[in-house]
Amino acid sequence: MGTVLNTSVSVVSPVFIGRHDEMASLEAMLGQVQAGKPTFALVGGEAGVGKTRLVTEFSARAAGAGFLVLTGQCVEFGAEGLPLAPLVDALRALSRSLPPEALAGVLGPAGPGLARLLPELAPAVGAAHEAGGAGGLAGGDMQKAQLLEMVLGLLTRLSVTQPVLFGIEDLHWADQSTLDLTAFLVRSLREARVLVLATYRSDELQRRHPLRPLLAGWDRMRSAEHIELRRFDQDEVSAQLAAILDSAPAPEVAEAVFDRSGGNAYLVEELAVAPRGGGNLLGLPPLLKDVLLSRMDALSADARLLLRAASACFGRTVPDRLLAEVAGIGDSEFFAGLREVVDNHLLLVDPQGHSYAFRHALTRDAVYEDMLPGERVRLHAAYGEALARDATLAGDGVAAVPSALAHHWYAALDLPRALPSVIDAASCAMASYAPAEALGHLERAQRIWPRVADAHQRTGLDEAEVSRLAAEAAYQCGALDRSKSLLASALAALPASFDPARRALLLERYAVTQRDAGWPAGAVATLREAQALLPEGQASRAHAVVLATLASALTRSSELEESVLVARRAVAVADAAGAADVEADATITLGVAISYLGPAEAGIGPLHSGVALALELGIPATAVRGYINLSDVLELLGRHREAARTAAEGLELAARAGLSRALGAYLIGNQAESLLRLGEWAEADELTARAMRTLPEGVFGATLQELRAELYALRGQYDAAAHELRDARRAIGATSELQYIQPMRYVDALIGLGQGDLGAAREAVAAGLAGAPLSWEARYAWPLLWAGLRVAADEATRFRDRLEPVPADLMRRCADLAAAADQLVAPAAPWLAFRALVAAEQARAAGAAGTQAWRAAVVAWQDTEEPHLLAYALLRLAEAHSQAGDREQAAQAVQRAYEIADRLGAAPLAEEAAALARRARLSLEPAMDTAAGAGAAAAQPPPPDELARFGLTEREREVLTQLATGRSNREIGRVLFISTKTASVHVSNILAKLGVRGRVEAATVAHRLGVYGPAAPARPG
Ligand SMILES: Nc1ncnc2c1ncn2[C@@H]1O[C@H](COP(=O)(O)OP(=O)(O)OP(=O)(O)O)[C@@H](O)[C@H]1O
Ligand SMILES: [Mg+2]
Repeated sequence: MGTVLNTSVSVVSPVFIGRHDEMASLEAMLGQVQAGKPTFALVGGEAGVGKTRLVTEFSARAAGAGFLVLTGQCVEFGAEGLPLAPLVDALRALSRSLPPEALAGVLGPAGPGLARLLPELAPAVGAAHEAGGAGGLAGGDMQKAQLLEMVLGLLTRLSVTQPVLFGIEDLHWADQSTLDLTAFLVRSLREARVLVLATYRSDELQRRHPLRPLLAGWDRMRSAEHIELRRFDQDEVSAQLAAILDSAPAPEVAEAVFDRSGGNAYLVEELAVAPRGGGNLLGLPPLLKDVLLSRMDALSADARLLLRAASACFGRTVPDRLLAEVAGIGDSEFFAGLREVVDNHLLLVDPQGHSYAFRHALTRDAVYEDMLPGERVRLHAAYGEALARDATLAGDGVAAVPSALAHHWYAALDLPRALPSVIDAASCAMASYAPAEALGHLERAQRIWPRVADAHQRTGLDEAEVSRLAAEAAYQCGALDRSKSLLASALAALPASFDPARRALLLERYAVTQRDAGWPAGAVATLREAQALLPEGQASRAHAVVLATLASALTRSSELEESVLVARRAVAVADAAGAADVEADATITLGVAISYLGPAEAGIGPLHSGVALALELGIPATAVRGYINLSDVLELLGRHREAARTAAEGLELAARAGLSRALGAYLIGNQAESLLRLGEWAEADELTARAMRTLPEGVFGATLQELRAELYALRGQYDAAAHELRDARRAIGATSELQYIQPMRYVDALIGLGQGDLGAAREAVAAGLAGAPLSWEARYAWPLLWAGLRVAADEATRFRDRLEPVPADLMRRCADLAAAADQLVAPAAPWLAFRALVAAEQARAAGAAGTQAWRAAVVAWQDTEEPHLLAYALLRLAEAHSQAGDREQAAQAVQRAYEIADRLGAAPLAEEAAALARRARLSLEPAMDTAAGAGAAAAQPPPPDELARFGLTEREREVLTQLATGRSNREIGRVLFISTKTASVHVSNILAKLGVRGRVEAATVAHRLGVYGPAAPARPG
């Protein structure tokens, strides 16, 4: 078929008019992006005002500045049309701009997934597949979250070699998936050199338009730039006219055009050419629509027919063969008409030469809306017939044929033919990661269904199946409630006598929504009902699926024994039924249940084999789930190194499969937790910081922030710790899950202890333990119990230091905490070590902590790979030795505590160790620069009347202050200008008044009561 070329003068101004400020701010963003700061810009404005022109002009400048420009266009009918159209456009532009080798490289692991959106990519993906070997993983269980991540990864990789401008035109028409993608990119691009530039029509946003809430959110973001394009003023309109007409317009013409167009660039163009067609500018009709349509009046009947036919096409452009088919006129009339509309600048020829688009959507809308309803219906039916007969008529748009058919048959009011196409379109949308659009199609199918008598024959489905498909789409959109009610209607649509396996599987899906909505007990009940439907003793896939989900729901509701039994059966049934994927999943659940039921080691085997099976089957989501649980159980067993390694392995897989954000975030949390325990703090810090930069929402982020808070607290950065905790709490919201509540309370307690606020620490522990059953979540309760006893011991010691009786309720609290600890299981070395620590603190609280209890704690922590609490136990051991007068042992222990704390960067512990060494006159290698420690402590003024109670004289206080730094009588004398003898008399009096036996003890009491000696002069260097 021939091509019509545009030969006449343009109606478009070749000169770019005005927009200096807008262009300047956009160009400033180029610099920003080049410097590594991803940027998001929005250009809004009424239809025809000049958004596209501005962006086109700017894109050329960006390309000149070395940017890779990828632009995509949202199409009207987005919601029922081809999902993710702008992404597909951008991918197409990319595939055409890079040689296959380079393309394969940047697509990387995202290749197979993205090739599903744009089959053109497939050859390059083949190459990547051979090179990278990750292709097989992007199998059937790919989901929207993965797509988002793949696009992010792709942009990030692209931007390494070249900054990228990703343009998204006409966001007001975007489908939900495109909106999700845009919002996701805006949120997640953190370090890539990418500029996302979106346009939208501000006059199209009716009150409930889905773009509105996004815009409101973006406007609150500091990093988003929002440009609102205004209309041209009179001078600008004159300049535009002059450029179009190639000569300055007469003043009255310029004024009339300004008047009629209101400064809208598109109307200026239309008005500028109207008189050329012989019309009289001043006699033009008053309505915008009529201005646009008036240009049709001069056309031949064939040309008008072509325009009307083109206005009903699906998507932005219509291939010439398809248009000819639909118009149904002879070749010569067709080409003559086409030439006419192109010469009149109504349709434009696509650069490829075989399809046509309206010069502007405004005209298209005017033409479409001007038709009589019957004519529209006829045209849509003609499109439907043509495409149904020969899909290749769609040219480039062949992938969109199911969506196009769904659209045309529906608009043609041909419901019987619309129904199967709508369902086809839904399954295409599911396959291209657009569950929201799939849901839209399926809901339409549900509405049409009752009006199509032979719906079942036409679709091969029944109503319940359509509801089930819709429920699946809703589930993948995260709309749990919607999914649940769709499943309820699917169940209602099944006659009671009907195929019990089908009913059971529907109930299983229903239970999954219950489980995920945080109601595992409800899920268990539903699954029992499903189980009852299936014939006993028969192994089927349905059986296996129901049992596997039941096992997982039982674990979630802490019915572990039952869960183990059910998971075992699920594995056996899945095996017998040949449902290997279900077998992998159930094996993992079995491992989890066994581990938490105990002994935890026994679960490791099943977890390993579940992961291995999932890997073999190429179902990455299941394998990643296995890695998460495996690393968690290893951590529970105190096998931190293995746990960290396993989590890292899982992360690698998750990244290849595009799952790093959703499931991968758990793995990062697990890995960071293990690293923290291992004392690899710098690594834990880096890992969590990196993840926080690119990640995640809600509970995913909160887990990481909680770990960061603990890390800060252990390093003595209490404000930063409190800050992270605040953010974590905000992200989590109300929760009753101990795995979140208890670790956060523990960090609260560490902060209280570190800041000397024992009351706050005590309350944090109480809040963390309140109402918590002492179950398998023991791992979170142990640290809290220890912190509680440590607080109590500190409080009791303070009473003794002040020579006051220890209140009975304090001793009672100690006993309660110790009794709770007795109830807790200690499944591995770290928990046994906590037990030893708890016993030693209890003894300290009773004023009876000898060296033995602390030595036992030291030995227990030596059995673990956790250095931090080993250092703590060593410090207390040193203190006990020093109290017992064993200087040598004290020196050894304090030295070890100090070394470990120093290596970890545990500043509070290191300072404690140094202070102990100082006042007990123990040597420390290398000698610590104590200025920092003493300075930090002195920042909180010592409570002045703490010493008043002992009736010390002014002079005695001075001596005690010196004593507290570990000075000898001779040194004290020298500093205070008194004789050694006098100093010694003062010291004896002080010991008597403080009720202590020796000078080290006096120094310790003074230290605990907040008396700090003058800081030692900082060592040079
Ligand atoms: N600054 C400008 N200089 C010259 N011509 C312009 C300028 N701005 C817009 N135009 C012309 O006006 C017409 C309409 O502009 P454009 O297509 O950019 O509008 P739009 O805001 O993108 O409209 P829509 O919302 O319909 O997409 C185009 O033909 C364009 O070339
Ligand atoms: Mg535009």
